Amino acid sequence: MFREFFSDEDILDIFKSNDEKVIISLNEKARRITNSIYQNKIFIRGLIEISNYCKNNCFYCGINNKMKIKRFRLSSDEIIASSKLAYKEGFRTFVLQGGEDSFFTDDILSRIIYSIKNLFPDTRITLSLGVRSKKSYKILKESGADRYLLRFEAEDEIFKKLHESSQILNIRKKALLDLREVGFVIGTGFLVDPPFTNHINTLNSIKFIRELEPEMIGIGPFIPAKGTIFEKYPAGSVKNTLKILSILRIENPHSLIPSTTALNTIDKDGRIKGILAGANVVMPNISPDVAKENYKLYDNKNSTGLESLYGLKALDELLNEYGYEIDYSKGDNK
Ligand code: 5AD
Repeated sequence: MFREFFSDEDILDIFKSNDEKVIISLNEKARRITNSIYQNKIFIRGLIEISNYCKNNCFYCGINNKMKIKRFRLSSDEIIASSKLAYKEGFRTFVLQGGEDSFFTDDILSRIIYSIKNLFPDTRITLSLGVRSKKSYKILKESGADRYLLRFEAEDEIFKKLHESSQILNIRKKALLDLREVGFVIGTGFLVDPPFTNHINTLNSIKFIRELEPEMIGIGPFIPAKGTIFEKYPAGSVKNTLKILSILRIENPHSLIPSTTALNTIDKDGRIKGILAGANVVMPNISPDVAKENYKLYDNKNSTGLESLYGLKALDELLNEYGYEIDYSKGDNK
């Protein structure tokens, strides 16, 4: 499909616009593009939060290394058990997500990935475990992992204000290239409206995605997390998230774009609003309770109901109301 790019001016006009008609027609255009490629099918991914230990200090993040929180990590058996439960419910993609936890060596992760793939060859494994070496990525790929999510979070000017100086945007960009080189299907994205952002920053983030052409794109509003230095900052807006989501869809027709938990946290109808703005993926949380209770990236993070292992039927019913349905396949991008 022909890729259409907005001019900088058009994007900035959309950001500034409060005209409902403009926004509705943008969302509709994005949705038409999604439907032309993925029809009315919404892919599901089972998210397993494997550890909230993290060596980093991303200032916005509720599990950064400065936070005085209860830490947990799942055992290999618990992770594999979660994948079994989810498989039974119909999930065919498992996303292993966690902080940058040195406990999870290549060796440990490889064994987990290998075991899941051995049990369920007809699945995909996505990893979301932060920056690692290219050698590590290669090992993980060879053990059977398929996809890797690593958001760059924000363009340089803002990235610096959201992270410690040792965390450099270019390290993440390099990691994304490494991941692609070793054969991963890659996903990236950014926070919508984190502290200090302006329209130009967001425009630059959209342009970075335009260049990288990731197969998966995840964005969600910044949401303050208690105990972080940004706890008093306002959450990102639903409206901006949906505008950006639609722009990203129009520019990246084939990408897999989730309607994220963060969007659904700031708006009880966020899930469906994201889909109506062009998203085609939902990632219910299939983690065991210990993870759900302690993997708090931000306040009020939702992990029950339609966001959970046993919520698929209800999720499908909701989607049906809007003419969509769950697609139970592995859900590769077209
Ligand atoms: N608000 C919204 N999203 C957040 N994340 C981390 N902290 C927050 C927050 N306070 C997101 C980051 C990360 C993903 C796993 O969670 O974008 O990449």
